[in-house]
Amino acid sequence: MLTSDQRAEYERDGFLVLSDFVSTDACDRLRARAEELVREFDPSVISIFSTHEQTRTSDDYFLESGDKIRFFFEENAFNSDGSLRQSKEHSINKIGHALHDLDPVFDQFSRTNGLKQLVADLGLANPLLLQSMYIFKQPRIGGEVTCHQDGTFLYTEPLSVIGLWFALEDATIENGCLWAIPGGHKLGLKSRFVRAENGGTRFDVFDNSPWSEENLLPLEVEKGTLIVLHPLLPHLSRENRSAKSRHAYTLHVIDAASRYPETNWLQRAADVPARGF
Ligand code: FE2
Repeated sequence: MLTSDQRAEYERDGFLVLSDFVSTDACDRLRARAEELVREFDPSVISIFSTHEQTRTSDDYFLESGDKIRFFFEENAFNSDGSLRQSKEHSINKIGHALHDLDPVFDQFSRTNGLKQLVADLGLANPLLLQSMYIFKQPRIGGEVTCHQDGTFLYTEPLSVIGLWFALEDATIENGCLWAIPGGHKLGLKSRFVRAENGGTRFDVFDNSPWSEENLLPLEVEKGTLIVLHPLLPHLSRENRSAKSRHAYTLHVIDAASRYPETNWLQRAADVPARGF
């Protein structure tokens, strides 16, 4: 799947941009399915808007989402009284985190020979599809994702997670494309996002130094592009203030031979373990 030059590029930069990796049709099918899921979603099932239990309930909804299909709103989606400022369809930030296991359209998109080959070329001979997200990056209210390493959120020993980021629409600086620090993956893991003993989550910080954000490079890519991310690569995406959405799908794959700590925020029930391709 990958040439030796491409593998060397991944080792050098910590990411790889593969244009035309998926067809326009495949992108459109995934998008249509995500929009259907949002239409079927009844926001009143999450009582996160009005009770004083807000933090607790939203924590649980998030923490239990590892083996489910759940819907998360943009932070700026609500009025002060808790009502949505715009339609439900334009308020969702993302869907996560087991789309690839529970939805047939996402399963088909995620489990391909091409992807299996690709991650094998990057060292994952025994891959497990751990987590998936459909990210909307809504027009005007699409929130920023601050600089992070995927190894912080999907930690294994040794580190193994490979991020597969699919552009389902053209991603530009204007609508909030990915930015990355080339070579930044050589600096080590800065933190881990874990479950706190008394509920909720916290960051265990190993290195408090700031990111060298002056070295960030925008990854403007066309629809159908796959960006492959090293577990230690610092990357972010900025707010989307534009009138265009920036839909993307991400899939995170780990090595079955690595240890997956039970303190990681994302957990799956024992009867629905992560599966391979
Ligand atoms: Fe990420």
